[in-house]
Amino acid sequence: IAYLLFEKPLAGVKVMVTAGPTREKIDNVRYITNRSSGKMGYALARMLRLMGAEVILISGPTTLKIPSGVRAVKVQSAAEMAKAVDTHSKDSRVIIMAAAVADYRPAEPSESKIKKGAGKLTLILERTRDILATLERKEGQIVIGFCAEDRDLENRAREKLVKKSLDAIVCNDISRRDIAFGSEENEVSVFFRDGSSEYIEKADKDTVALQLIKRVILRLLSKS
Ligand code: CTP
Ligand code: CA
Repeated sequence: IAYLLFEKPLAGVKVMVTAGPTREKIDNVRYITNRSSGKMGYALARMLRLMGAEVILISGPTTLKIPSGVRAVKVQSAAEMAKAVDTHSKDSRVIIMAAAVADYRPAEPSESKIKKGAGKLTLILERTRDILATLERKEGQIVIGFCAEDRDLENRAREKLVKKSLDAIVCNDISRRDIAFGSEENEVSVFFRDGSSEYIEKADKDTVALQLIKRVILRLLSKS
């Protein structure tokens, strides 16, 4: 690990990381979001920077501090994140999509506060764009997705790997309450396009980030 930090193996490499949840407006005081804290994506951004990479972090709303030396673009909604990714992914060698992007948003957000009535309230949701699946890819780019599954992990992860044409996918097991969402620790499985996989044992998110860089990102870069 000391080697990774002091030798700066990623010097000159441009990496874009997305992190955090998105917020989808219901009205001017309410929104839909999810439990992502952004910690895993921020840990990756920080460690990538410490290894010399030029890091651009596209972040949904979080309370986390932007890691030193990292360029950050703050966004709210999935649509804003899509726009920022389109702008900044073009010249990135490595793209890491750790954000928990909302799949749906209110179809008709209200400009004024919705007042309560006697009965039920129905919200109509529409799909957001799948940023990763529709990303305009450049020759030689390495693209890594994330997923969070509560069952049938490997099959679901591998399905997404193929469907979204990824080089690797990092999978969180959200059936476990001690790791992932909001937690200080994580433990992940990584599945590669060539059929191989890596298991990264439970540790604080900085350590998991270092392992991901060493065993996934540097490995993919050395092969390309
Ligand atoms: N993703 C994205 N844009 C979306 C939804 C997801 O870029 N609108 C990205 C995530 O950042 C992640 C990957 O796609 O890297 C997988 O996200 P996930 O939610 O697991 O997959 P979905 O295709 O949305 O499938 P589902 O939520 O139904 O399991
Ligand atoms: Ca999703």
